[in-house]
Amino acid sequence: MGLVIAVANQKGGVGKTTTTMNLAGAFSASGYRVFVADADGQQSCMSWAATADPEKPLPFRVGAVRKLEKNIGNEIGRLADDYDVVLVDCPPNIDDLTTGRVLAVADATIVPTNASPLDLWSSEGMMALIERTRLHNKAGKFAILVSKTNAKTVLHKQMSEVLRESNVLLLRTAIRQREVYPQAAALGRTVFDVRGIRGVKPAKEEINALFDELVELLNSEEEAAEVSHG
Ligand SMILES: Nc1ncnc2c1ncn2[C@@H]1O[C@H](COP(=O)(O)OP(=O)(O)OP(=O)(O)O)[C@@H](O)[C@H]1O
Ligand SMILES: [Mg+2]
Repeated sequence: MGLVIAVANQKGGVGKTTTTMNLAGAFSASGYRVFVADADGQQSCMSWAATADPEKPLPFRVGAVRKLEKNIGNEIGRLADDYDVVLVDCPPNIDDLTTGRVLAVADATIVPTNASPLDLWSSEGMMALIERTRLHNKAGKFAILVSKTNAKTVLHKQMSEVLRESNVLLLRTAIRQREVYPQAAALGRTVFDVRGIRGVKPAKEEINALFDELVELLNSEEEAAEVSHG
């Protein structure tokens, strides 16, 4: 059975799709068989893949999973039987149950958050959903990813301190604001297979750092133990 990794936040535009697609690139580059499950009605991953040059398709599969359907968890489970990793791009809301159903079956959930107090305040519902999910998905790992950030700003440091105090793990890796991300998306590619665009090397490095940290998190027993000890 392959791993299921959800990328979710109720807040729109925080980098869920960008994180999903570039992590898929990192897993593929490391030899994993990857399926990107698009659970968002906007179908951004589908559009991204459709933009790729048919001569040079993405090195992983992208497909829609039925939104609002009760059996989305089973559908993801079946995909995980056939792939090493299923990355699920969730919609920017938590009211229609899709995100909750995906989190229920995820081995790890990444919550991209931008480094602004507004983004932090609006992620309260997401934090509550994580707490509810933990009651039944006891082995699930949850982590916040600061994304689209300028790590040099004081704001980022303050945000990181606030996030560190919350119950959910804050990843050491942050994804910087870089033009290469939208530029790669516009070409239907990930940062692992674009050439000659400024910032591609540091972007690859930070996505690889995220990949390493995620693998470490998936292999750790700590969080599950902490939860079970209440
Ligand atoms: N690290 C980054 N640097 C610069 N631009 C970024 C970065 N990450 C994402 N973007 C851009 O920000 C916008 C929103 O990103 P993305 O679509 O990944 O967010 P999302 O959370 O999936 O949005 P939605 O909630 O609408 O699904 C896009 O135009 C994307 O190209
Ligand atoms: Mg999206």
